[in-house]
Amino acid sequence: MSILVAGGAGYIGSVVVEQLIEEGRDVVVLDNLSRGHRSAANPKATFVHGDCGDMDLLSQTIALHGIKSVMHFCALSLVGESVEAPASYYRNNISQSVALVEACLNAGIRNFIFSSTAAVYGEPESVPITEDSKTQPTNPYGRTKLFFEYFLRDCDAAYGLKSVCLRYFNAAGASKEYGEDHSPETHLIPLVLDAAVGKRESISIFGHDYDTPDGSCIRDYIHVLDLADAHLLALQRLEKGGASDYFNLGNGNGYSVREVIECARKITGLEIKSEETGRRPGDPARLVASADKARNVLGWKPRFPELEKIIQDAWDWRQKNPDGYAD
Ligand SMILES: NC(=O)c1ccc[n+]([C@@H]2O[C@H](COP(=O)([O-])OP(=O)(O)OC[C@H]3O[C@@H](n4cnc5c(N)ncnc54)[C@H](O)[C@@H]3O)[C@@H](O)[C@H]2O)c1
Repeated sequence: MSILVAGGAGYIGSVVVEQLIEEGRDVVVLDNLSRGHRSAANPKATFVHGDCGDMDLLSQTIALHGIKSVMHFCALSLVGESVEAPASYYRNNISQSVALVEACLNAGIRNFIFSSTAAVYGEPESVPITEDSKTQPTNPYGRTKLFFEYFLRDCDAAYGLKSVCLRYFNAAGASKEYGEDHSPETHLIPLVLDAAVGKRESISIFGHDYDTPDGSCIRDYIHVLDLADAHLLALQRLEKGGASDYFNLGNGNGYSVREVIECARKITGLEIKSEETGRRPGDPARLVASADKARNVLGWKPRFPELEKIIQDAWDWRQKNPDGYAD
């Protein structure tokens, strides 16, 4: 039984593919490499270069490899870019993704796992954020993810497509082989490491007067290996005939921007210059997940919740791959 991992040459997809292969699964990676890297596609997986909206290619791939389940990581996922170019976001994250689901339905695939995001919640009324918290995304990126979740629910009602939507908080860290190499990079931990190695002058701390112990924003970082574990559990749930559902995936431990910088200084032993700048509009003080539902229903438990381990693994990968992936 093969699994199609759409977007498997990206950051999170590559780590999930690695774990699927370690479990002895046959994996086909489909990626258009718009944001990913050919060398992040695991050599033990079959690689198909193409777009998840290409229904002919998908139908052929699904038939050729006997695909039974699909994990869908493909997306454009830069909040600022989504505000400037919403059409690309709706085309990629909705239209192309709908085509992927249609190809699955045509081929009789009934198991679908979707990379959703904490951005579906927008600015929460309280923390920790549970799955019952109001979904009120504040940007086109978050809206495309929420609309696609609704689409999956409609597909369950109409066609019996079973899906699990995993709402990730801030993915971070690396496995030994696969890590984070985005261009442009917008995530805090790789940016802090860039500042450590002198690839950028300093790291900006946006806002210093939030209602948090050190005045900087608090976010929930989750080790990418823990995210991968949750995907395998979600897949098992669907394979056993489990119902569609959606889950937060976070540590439940928030860390402030200053704590991240300080921890990176300790781990790298390097000076990391920081500068305080004003708050960014729409940046809430705290975004921390409650992942109790994933723990209780999926039996998921993060193995690497400590910030030190998350940053250490990101740093180890960075030292092995100072310029990221070769391509
Ligand atoms: N990184 C995070 O912290 C985070 C947090 C919440 C949600 N997510 C979601 O998780 C998923 C993976 O995130 P990531 O950080 O690994 O992103 P990524 O950009 O590294 O990986 C996405 C991959 O999908 C591919 N892709 C994009 N559109 C495609 C298309 N139309 N057809 C084929 N391939 C396509 C890209 O080339 C890339 O390899 C995304 O859906 C993202 O929105 C990520």
